[in-house]
Amino acid sequence: KKILILNGPNLNLLGVREKSIYGDQSFEQYFDELKSKYAVLDLEYFQSNSEGAIIDKLHEVGFDYDGIVLNAGAYTHTSVAIADAIAAIKTPVVEVHISNVHQREEFRHHSYLSKNCKGVIIGFGLNGYRLGLESLLG
Ligand code: DQA
Repeated sequence: KKILILNGPNLNLLGVREKSIYGDQSFEQYFDELKSKYAVLDLEYFQSNSEGAIIDKLHEVGFDYDGIVLNAGAYTHTSVAIADAIAAIKTPVVEVHISNVHQREEFRHHSYLSKNCKGVIIGFGLNGYRLGLESLLG
């Protein structure tokens, strides 16, 4: 199975940024662990800080991959365009948030994306990406 993990803005700084919220592991390090744990899968990782590049990637993989695990970062709370891209593609998308956004500022409580996603995983740290992956394998 071909699965893409897609990270949005500021998630390139995992392990450096706001460690008390997002932990101290870099995503590259975590992704290496995930790849060895799920060696039978064809796992790919892409990160971008720009909305357009995230949409381009969704279009690129969204008609033949088996699943996408997406953490769109702050675009979750702002982007009708990413929501539309998820609706436009065929590949199921699982929305992931590292932190429990419902324990945080009000503006993080709403997601434009959830409606078009298969499901949402919130608040389990980096482990949420693995849970998202598992949910796509059934
Ligand atoms: C986040 C939550 C968002 O509100 C925030 O803007 C992020 C990360 C999370 O994984 O907890 O960048 O998506």
